[in-house]
Amino acid sequence: MSNIKIPYSRQLIESDDIDAVTAALTSDFLTQGPRIKAFEEAVAQYCGARFAVAFCNGTAALHAACIAADLGPGDEGIVPPISFVATANCLAYVGATPRFSDVQLGIPVLDPHSVAQTITSRTRVIIPVHFAGSAAPMAAISELAGQHRLLVIEDACHALGGAYQSPDGQWIKIGSCRHSDMTVFSFHPVKNITTGEGGMITTNDPQLYQRLRSIRHHGIVVPENENNPAWYYEMRSLGYNFRMTDIQAALGNSQLGKIDRMIAARQNLFARYRQELTSIPEIKLLEPPTRTGSALHLCLIQLQPNIRRDEVFNSLRAQGIGVQLHYMPIYRHPYYRNWLHLSAANFPHAEHYFAHAMSIPLYPSLTTTEQDFVIRSLRAAVSQARRPYEDSHHHPSAYDLDAPAR
Ligand SMILES: Cc1ncc(COP(=O)(O)O)c(C=O)c1O
Repeated sequence: MSNIKIPYSRQLIESDDIDAVTAALTSDFLTQGPRIKAFEEAVAQYCGARFAVAFCNGTAALHAACIAADLGPGDEGIVPPISFVATANCLAYVGATPRFSDVQLGIPVLDPHSVAQTITSRTRVIIPVHFAGSAAPMAAISELAGQHRLLVIEDACHALGGAYQSPDGQWIKIGSCRHSDMTVFSFHPVKNITTGEGGMITTNDPQLYQRLRSIRHHGIVVPENENNPAWYYEMRSLGYNFRMTDIQAALGNSQLGKIDRMIAARQNLFARYRQELTSIPEIKLLEPPTRTGSALHLCLIQLQPNIRRDEVFNSLRAQGIGVQLHYMPIYRHPYYRNWLHLSAANFPHAEHYFAHAMSIPLYPSLTTTEQDFVIRSLRAAVSQARRPYEDSHHHPSAYDLDAPAR
């Protein structure tokens, strides 16, 4: 059993959430009922999109988005290397190939300059990730997509409740699809709202909306033809059972009602971290870029190169603090190493982030006492984990990409 007492993130379930789920459980529909539609409409309205389609998880939603975008063998999609593997896997599911562009320094969102260099004649889609709740540079990405006739699928699994400012100063809600074709969310318990497992796609395109609904339900369509008997439906393409249940949707709806309060709680805790961590020069808190109303899904820090990150990490874990590393670059995973044979030298910013980053606890129910314990433990661990001077200038990577993949 895990000894983690303070995780890096956790759900907030209150009595009204429990009441909502109980009502769903005692209703006529456990699945394919009215709560799904209500949740979809509420998310669409919250984000300012025309349509939303609920899925059983964010990964299935990304997969469905790639099918709806007609991606297949021979196609390439551009993704950031610093993300959960699902961001790249969705391309692999449909036979397409992920291509990685480097990320920006600071919060590791796609760097449009690197994206521009990654585009080839096979590129069909860009999948930016709004990392830790902070928006990727969508105006620049959508401009590139427009120039090269590419689709854009936003991976906003970290970012329900986030927003960003356009170059002319307008605030744009993540999920409004102002600069994309589809936006994908996840409702895993560590995310900003939860349905246990769950996902959602928002879009403004009526055709994509209809395709997504059909993909979620085996590729089945019920044609509008009054001459058809009442039992008639037809399967027009190969789809899946990617449906969310009404039990999950009930929880989602109840959670959505309090998302702004939960993000405000994250903001207060983040402000406390900012205040307290300035006195530890070895730690840099990664701030959301200006013009970003971050959903603050994760609190990311970077340790100075003279600090042994893994030693600090292990020390905090030993004290029951569930620090995490979001994430090892995707191209380092054996599956992608064996397939794509990429060199880490092509991604200096991703590698820098990976070498020194850590996520520290941030979630609405984190108490200030717990947060103070995290800060005290960090301060102590960092002071114990300094490298000798010569070591900090030349430390061979423990994660040598040239070593054979496991
Ligand atoms: C960036 C990103 N994309 C996709 C996913 C997949 O979402 P899910 O866990 O709901 O399948 C996650 C979830 O961890 C994620 O963090």
